[in-house]
Amino acid sequence: MSTNPFIRTVIEPFIIKSVEPIQMTDQCDREAFLKKAHYNLFQIRARNVLIDLLTDSGTGAMSSEQWAAIMRGDESYAGSESFARLEATIHELFGFKHVIPTHQGRAAERILFSVMCNQGDVVPNNTHFDTTRANIEFQDAEAVDLVIPEGKDPQAIHPFKGNMDVEKLRELIEKTGPEKIPLCMMTITNNSGGGQPVSMENLKAVRKVLDKYSIPLYLDAARFAENAYFIKLREPGYENKSVQEIVREMMDISEGCTVSAKKDGLVNIGGLLCTNDDILAQKEKDLLILTEGFPTYGGLAGRDLEAMSVGFREALDEDYLKYRLAEAQYLGEHLVEIGFQIIQPPGGHAIYVDAAATLPHIPPSQYPGQTLAVEFYLAGGIRTCEIGSVMFGKTAEDGKTEIPAQMELVRFALPRRTHTQSHIDYVIEIARDVYKRKDDLTGYKIIEQPPHLRHFSAKFAPC
Ligand code: F0G
Repeated sequence: MSTNPFIRTVIEPFIIKSVEPIQMTDQCDREAFLKKAHYNLFQIRARNVLIDLLTDSGTGAMSSEQWAAIMRGDESYAGSESFARLEATIHELFGFKHVIPTHQGRAAERILFSVMCNQGDVVPNNTHFDTTRANIEFQDAEAVDLVIPEGKDPQAIHPFKGNMDVEKLRELIEKTGPEKIPLCMMTITNNSGGGQPVSMENLKAVRKVLDKYSIPLYLDAARFAENAYFIKLREPGYENKSVQEIVREMMDISEGCTVSAKKDGLVNIGGLLCTNDDILAQKEKDLLILTEGFPTYGGLAGRDLEAMSVGFREALDEDYLKYRLAEAQYLGEHLVEIGFQIIQPPGGHAIYVDAAATLPHIPPSQYPGQTLAVEFYLAGGIRTCEIGSVMFGKTAEDGKTEIPAQMELVRFALPRRTHTQSHIDYVIEIARDVYKRKDDLTGYKIIEQPPHLRHFSAKFAPC
């Protein structure tokens, strides 16, 4: 609450029309749930979570307009009216010639890289999201991250920490040869780098370098609206442009994009692959039919396409975006006030707490991020996500020693339009309790793990 008459609280720009009860639990219940789940938060039943901040993907609330549009869903196999409406919306908002629906972002990535990448190719990005990297590597190509140095320093303050290092891009192209670089990606906002935005100036500078070598630029545009609002707030010359104009300008700089509509599309499922290239689009549609479905539904129901059409428009609402960014900033500032170190400044969709800095007595081999995430669940039923050595630790060539991740983070991702400020205040209260006890916390060991993507199913035990 603000006591300054000139500063008003940024309120949720919606009222609640439909509710889903939370099942209250106490610490004793949660201790039992944790033991049963072998201290892996992915193995906890959602009904036993009070505040679920595991991801902002597909977990947001749809609006009454989206639910109304769902009733209009045309479920025809071919030529669905719902697709025509989605296509018209994307033509207007993004401007790309070809609009290909997919069931989610990674399906668009798989199709794009299958069509564009060959063995030995190199794809630069500011920072690849895991599924993007995995889909490139699946083609035996190499995914290279070229974010600016500030983007790798959690404490560095920079308005656009998601920017690409343009000089490094030029060097990479010269070293590799442009014929080995079928495309360059830019992730807006940069999720793996803390949800940090990319400036319009940087997009233009990247495009200028790529033009010299005739390399196309594609956007990983999952959080396109949040990125555009950061540009409006922080980039000189954009303060009086509408978010829609900024989105269009970002898209016009690129030749196409992949989109996980589960983020700024404001839907629970859906994705897009867009391009201006006629030949590529044909190949992409041919592949789409093999695994996703006919190009006028792409692995989705007609009603999902309707919800997307409305969602993409609602995400551009500036009152919504103001509240969205204020929510993350509010949580981030309070966590810092308590004493936590976070990736600065707060990003658009999540706050990333530096668990290594909070728990310096717990070495990476005993997973400080996992320890902190488990403690938040135990203390308050809050589910967060470890992004550290559990997720990214690698086994050395001896098959035994573990190489830790670069950072030990815990992500507090904020589902869209889902929680009220008192939910966030509760998270802050629990954070204060956890922080007080931080020096007494002890780490975890892995007692069983699968060969790949171990964070989803590994079993842990306290050290
Ligand atoms: N690109 C980015 C930047 C993402 O953050 C994600 C998903 C994807 C692509 C893949 O999209 O899930 O629809 O297949 N991020 C989620 C997360 C999973 O929790 O950050 P998808």
